[in-house]
Amino acid sequence: MAHKASPTKSSWKIHEEYHIDEDVGFALSDPLEELPHPYDAWTSIAKNLAALIQNGELRAEVEKLPMLSIDDLEGHKSQRLAHLVLGYITMAYVWNRGDGDVRKVLPRNIAVPYCKLSEKLGLPPILVYADCVLANWKKKDPHGPLTYENMDILFSFPGGDCSKGFFLVSLLVEIAAASAIKVIPTIFNAVQHQEQDTLQEALLDITSCLREALKVFHQIHDYVDPNLFFNVLRIYLSGWKGNPQLREGLLYEGVWDTPKKFAGGSAAQSSIFQCFDVLLGVQQSTGEASAAEFLQEMRTYMPPAHQNFLHSLELGPSVREFVRSRRDARLQEIYNDCVKAMVSLRSYHLQIVTKYIVIPASQQSKKNQTSEEPSDEGNKGTGGTDLMHFLKSVRGTTEKALLKEG
Ligand code: HEM
Repeated sequence: MAHKASPTKSSWKIHEEYHIDEDVGFALSDPLEELPHPYDAWTSIAKNLAALIQNGELRAEVEKLPMLSIDDLEGHKSQRLAHLVLGYITMAYVWNRGDGDVRKVLPRNIAVPYCKLSEKLGLPPILVYADCVLANWKKKDPHGPLTYENMDILFSFPGGDCSKGFFLVSLLVEIAAASAIKVIPTIFNAVQHQEQDTLQEALLDITSCLREALKVFHQIHDYVDPNLFFNVLRIYLSGWKGNPQLREGLLYEGVWDTPKKFAGGSAAQSSIFQCFDVLLGVQQSTGEASAAEFLQEMRTYMPPAHQNFLHSLELGPSVREFVRSRRDARLQEIYNDCVKAMVSLRSYHLQIVTKYIVIPASQQSKKNQTSEEPSDEGNKGTGGTDLMHFLKSVRGTTEKALLKEG
């Protein structure tokens, strides 16, 4: 059996083994921007998605695609780019104008290569966070900084700059937290060797990275319009699992005989929060069963190397137990500050979800109400209240990880 690098090693082994980059963390470093020429037909649809949808030509263009083999996609970066491209095309084909006219069958010309490639990458055949956020970016000036101003996304959905705002801000949150991932090997080493000072320093580092990530989160208000997010982008990110519009799922023609269900793209598929939950001993499983199940399911939408990384963290020494056993007020305070930084991130995220989903959903349900219908103040049917319940329960479990005095 191949020897697995352990994240307790102080050297930056986790880089190769777990596909985590020193600068951009779980994001793909310098993603490839162009597919090789045999795939021009895919590229030209993905690059012109919004115009093709607007002109009503998108579905016909997809149906005309030649059946391409995935054999010319050499290397991880070109495969990730192709997965991103096919994900965009698939979402656009299924949802088209986002007006309820949906397709339940993905034509074989795209379904066959998409499913083969997905299998190769260990990703599901639907647009995932690892595509639209982690592999969908470039620097405008290659020598310039990793800032919103100097970055762009490779592919967009209809809805103007909304996809750019949502995907890039999510990416910048990932990048801000990347510096904290680097500290994990030091933390595990310090716990193993009972080096309290080193552990304190490392936890302080993590807290300051998480606070920085929170600052970056604020940029969402500058770049993402709530109505465009709710009414346009959200539709294109929707999946076909638990979705009444595709109750049975999507039929991938030429691949499976029955429709398959996959959840839509969401930042819940980011490894960042789960990674620090595991590190700090935040045990979602002891809380609401369905929240833990959902987060576990979301792992299956992450690149396998990142799933393996989360699993390897679970096998590491327990930081929380170590801190508890030392009974040292200063160490406990430093640990608690780290947990509080996670709570703050989740509280802020809750505010964002209220602004971008709950409020637009309630406005829409008011618009749809006829005067004879009873008022629906509780957001019933929009999913808003359930989402809030889920997200609040995850935050509550995070708070429970705080260590009490004594
Ligand atoms: C407009 C901005 C955002 C909206 C509307 C939003 C919405 C949501 C929703 C509705 C969920 C519940 C699960 C689902 O149905 O997908 C969720 C979960 C989650 N989101 Fe976001 N999100 C936004 C931005 C972000 C960003 C920028 C990040 C961080 C990179 C993030 C990280 C997470 C995580 C980690 C979860 C899983 C729950 C948890 O661990 O606390 N979200 N989000």
